[in-house]
Amino acid sequence: MNKVLVTGGAGFIGSHLCERLLKLGHDVLCVDNFYTGSKANLLALIGQPFFELMRHDVTFPLYVEVDQIYNLACPASPVHYQFDPVQTTKTSVHGAINMLGLAKRLKATILQASTSEVYGDPEVHPQQESYWGRVNPIGPRACYDEGKRCAETLFFDYYRQHNLRIKVARIFNTYGPRMHPNDGRVVSNFIVQALRGEDITLYGDGSQTRSFCYVDDLVEALVRLMATPAEVTGPVNLGNTGEFTIRQLAEAVLRLTGAKSKLIVKPLPQDDPKQRQPDIALARSTLGWEPEVKLEDGLRETIAYFRKVL
Ligand SMILES: NC(=O)c1ccc[n+]([C@@H]2O[C@H](COP(=O)([O-])OP(=O)(O)OC[C@H]3O[C@@H](n4cnc5c(N)ncnc54)[C@H](O)[C@@H]3O)[C@@H](O)[C@H]2O)c1
Repeated sequence: MNKVLVTGGAGFIGSHLCERLLKLGHDVLCVDNFYTGSKANLLALIGQPFFELMRHDVTFPLYVEVDQIYNLACPASPVHYQFDPVQTTKTSVHGAINMLGLAKRLKATILQASTSEVYGDPEVHPQQESYWGRVNPIGPRACYDEGKRCAETLFFDYYRQHNLRIKVARIFNTYGPRMHPNDGRVVSNFIVQALRGEDITLYGDGSQTRSFCYVDDLVEALVRLMATPAEVTGPVNLGNTGEFTIRQLAEAVLRLTGAKSKLIVKPLPQDDPKQRQPDIALARSTLGWEPEVKLEDGLRETIAYFRKVL
C-alpha cells in the first residue's frame, strides 16, 4: 500500500483516479480547492477509511507525507481556465513548484497531468512527443498552454538538477461521467444540448477533428505510467487515436440520445486547433497500453450520467 496524493482529485479525471487507486489498495489523500471540482464527484469515496479529502490551493505550499503524487490540479476547460487566467498560470506554475518541492523533500515519485495543448495548433499530424509545438504565447489560451509548458520545464529541471523521479503525461481530449455540465467542452456541450432538446452548436463547419479517450482508459494509463521504472520520465502522449470530426461526434450524440436537435454553425474561436490526434506509439511500447473503450460505449455511459445530473 502506498500513500498517494492526488491534487485536483475532486475534478473529473481526479475523482476517477482516486477511485481506482483505492480499489488498488492505496491510501489516498485528495487535495482540491473545489474551483471546478466538487464533493459530489467523491460521494462514493468520502467516509472510506483509506480516503482523505483536504481543501487546499496548490499555489500555496503543502506539507504532508506521501510516496507518490499525481499532480492534476488545474482547470482544464477554456471557460474555466480563461475566467481567471492569472490564477490558471499560477496554478500550473506555482502548483508545480510546490508539488515538486514536496516530492523532493519526500523522495516521492511525481506525475504531471500535462496536455496535448502544449502542441498548440500543430503543423505536424499526428503529434509525437518529440514535436515542440506551436503555441501563441500571448493569446487567450496561453494561460493554460504556456502554464502547462512551464510546468513541464520545471519537472525536467527538477529531474536533471535534483534527480527527482518524474513522469509527464500529455493527456489528449478525455471524456466520461463527471465532466462539468457547463464546461463548454465539446462532448459535454453536445450531450447537454441534446438532452435539453436545444440546438447543437458546431464551431466552424464541424470538419475540425478530435480524438476522444474514455476516462477509464486514461486512468489505467496514468496508473501504469506511475509504476514505470525511474528512467521512464515521459513526456508520453495518452489519448485515443480514433479521429472523428466534430460533426460526426454531434451525429453520434443525436443518435444515442434520440434527440431531435438541429445542428447550427457558429464561428471558430481564436487559436482553436483544426486537427488533434495523438501518436501513442510510446505509450504502447512503454506502458503496454491501448485504449479499449469505443466512442459509442463511452458516450452511452456519459449520456447516462448527464441524464441523472440534469
Ligand atoms: N479532461 C481532459 O480532456 C484533459 C486533457 C488534457 C489535460 N488534462 C489535465 O488533467 C487534469 C484534470 O483535468 P479535468 O478534466 O479532470 O479537469 P477538472 O477541472 O475537472 O479538474 C481539475 C481539478 O483541479 C482543481 N483545482 C483547480 N485549481 C486548483 C488549485 N489552485 N488548487 C487545488 N485544486 C485546484 C479543481 O477544483 C478540479 O477539481 C488537469 O490538470 C488538466 O489540465 C485534462
